Amino acid sequence: MKTDMITFDEKNQVFNLSNDYISYIFSVEEGKTLAHLYFGKKIRNYHGNLQYPRISRSFSANLPGSKDKTFSRDTLPKEYSSAGEGDFRTPAAVVKNENGAYASFLTYKSYQIINGKPKMQELPASFVDNTEDAQTLIIVLEDKISKLEFDLSYTIFRKYPIIVRSVKVRNMGNKTVFLNKVSSMQLDFVDKKFESITLPGAHMNERNIERNPLHHGLAVYSSNRGVSSPQMNPFIALVDKNTNEFSGEVYGFSLVYSGNHKIELEEDQINQVRLNMGINDYNFSWKLAPEESFQTPEIIMVHSNDGLNGMSQSFHHFIDENIITSKFKNSERPILINNWEATYFDFTEEKLLQLVKKAKDLGIEMFVLDDGWFGHRNDSRSSLGDWTVNTKKFPKGLIHFAKIVHGQGMQFGLWFEPEMISHDSELYKKHPDYLMHVPGRVPSPSRHQYVLDLGRKEVRDEVFNQLDKILSSGQIDYVKWDMNRHLTDIFQADLPADQQGETYHRYVLGLYNLLDRITSKYDNILFESCSSGGGRFDLGMSYYMPQTWTSDNTDAVARMKIQYGTSLIYPTNMIGAHVSVSPNEQTGRLVPLDTRYLVAMSGVLGYELDLTKLSPLESKKIKRQISSYKKFRNLIQFGDFYRLKSPFDTNQAAWNFVSKDQKEALVFSFNVLSDAQPIFTETKMYGLNPDVDYKDQDSGKVFGGDELMEMGFYDEIAKHDFIGKMRYFKAI
Ligand code: DGJ
Repeated sequence: MKTDMITFDEKNQVFNLSNDYISYIFSVEEGKTLAHLYFGKKIRNYHGNLQYPRISRSFSANLPGSKDKTFSRDTLPKEYSSAGEGDFRTPAAVVKNENGAYASFLTYKSYQIINGKPKMQELPASFVDNTEDAQTLIIVLEDKISKLEFDLSYTIFRKYPIIVRSVKVRNMGNKTVFLNKVSSMQLDFVDKKFESITLPGAHMNERNIERNPLHHGLAVYSSNRGVSSPQMNPFIALVDKNTNEFSGEVYGFSLVYSGNHKIELEEDQINQVRLNMGINDYNFSWKLAPEESFQTPEIIMVHSNDGLNGMSQSFHHFIDENIITSKFKNSERPILINNWEATYFDFTEEKLLQLVKKAKDLGIEMFVLDDGWFGHRNDSRSSLGDWTVNTKKFPKGLIHFAKIVHGQGMQFGLWFEPEMISHDSELYKKHPDYLMHVPGRVPSPSRHQYVLDLGRKEVRDEVFNQLDKILSSGQIDYVKWDMNRHLTDIFQADLPADQQGETYHRYVLGLYNLLDRITSKYDNILFESCSSGGGRFDLGMSYYMPQTWTSDNTDAVARMKIQYGTSLIYPTNMIGAHVSVSPNEQTGRLVPLDTRYLVAMSGVLGYELDLTKLSPLESKKIKRQISSYKKFRNLIQFGDFYRLKSPFDTNQAAWNFVSKDQKEALVFSFNVLSDAQPIFTETKMYGLNPDVDYKDQDSGKVFGGDELMEMGFYDEIAKHDFIGKMRYFKAI
């Protein structure tokens, strides 16, 4: 069968997914084994001649009942593997059968090609507005004994070097089985000398870029914290040794999921590489009764021959068009003032009104009321779960306050932490059982708070109804959805003992269900995801919320790294970045206001400091910053972003934005520590039109696009630390 992007060659039993950029090819081999052949740069016309060598390899098992010693599933590159099929590498799936055996043997059964991409039930996933833009291949693998069927789904997108994969397991037999592991994908490589790039980190130190050579054995990158976590983003890139930002081959993988995840990278006995990625099998076991099915989250797989910037460009454009559902995705985001670092819990309505007034004078467009406005919350010890206004702080109510903000011509945003409960709350008095805990055990607090058992519908309904009451006032323009602890005491109260292994995933499904209800009912509200900053920065959350608070660390120097790492996957319009006070609250570092601004304006700009304490000079500067950001906002939020110099490698950082028509460009360069004997360095731009001349709007000097990209310009030097410079070029 042939469609324009997916073909099946009946004679050679070869499936080929190709667009203008990439090809992904696999075939059906002996024993109906689905063998992987190729993923990479587009192959014009595959003639069917790449056969994995047959060899009798010691200690490798052969097909059941076979006398052919030369064919083994052990080293063969495959599309998907399960435990129990004579492959000693790490399997993508592990099934426990009714008789207790962990055996399943997956064989090819059938295929189906669909125009477009079917909508995924219950889970966030990529989508196309037009069925012309993508095609989907569903391959059915079966285990003949248990009668389990694995639908491997592959969607190829016309405009991108991207394939999206996921798996659905269907129980077609009459026995109940347990799924102990179901990866969303497996990808096997032969003869690749890869290095891996991952994004590990911590609270206030998210998404560091870490590059490692592969080694024999298994490397695991995962989260078992119930959320995607700041400790390990659900992302990996496999790159050639020589790959840099601008050239070389890259395979990038990002999981569309916000819970426990696991990336397994294995180099086998003959230097072949296997990558498995999906839901973490840690404390996971899913009971699958006859006629039931289980859907994994999906993985976005990007291929680039243009280095890491090439990969990021594909992620950025794809996320903007095919992941974010919010109707705000193409609109310029408001510049906000958030009262958290300005006041923390210590505020009165009067104090906030001073902030609002000052913000308005400076040109700020939205006021965000952070933690502490509800229940009787004056510190982190109480009131989570009680989403009613604290009348001591707002005697005339929240809506009255929101109206005053609106009266100033500003938008009004509000903070919630809907997944949580405090012991000291009305909700806990009424429904102590809503708190996730293991019966008979005392649950562990974290930041004095506990997690709600969101797998249960009645718990979600309670949260929905409380939020609904406030949001339906029509006075809320923006919601910051926070989540400030990880999951312990894993137990879902309405599940039987043999289904407790489902709790982690059911929590995430419950969260998605809640988010779906709220964001679709209130699609006129701009949602920002937050988890103590960027602790849950993943594509599952991005599906519902178009922007994310990138980190609780607002120090501009730390932010250079955090935003640089974040930009590997996520577009600038998702990256919330605020100017805060100096010395910085998290690091104590003194950074000039100009540099704080230059770093924050490289994302979705906001301010988070007590504006009423600004000196006249600072006020003047901030007013200028805000009007300048408004001028560049479109270019920054919707232009193409390229990394130029990594703050992880040098004392410097640089990046530039280029408008889609290549007529405008903004370049930022920073020097972190000054030097008595400065080393002269150059910044070379990227993504300009080499044949066009550009004028530096400050100096009036003219440069060719090729000059700016090949020769560049000398970086600023100064006798103090933390300097930054922005240059704005316009095509002439
Ligand atoms: C963590 C967030 O990242 C902060 O911005 C702030 O909202 C606090 N929570 C409030 O508790």
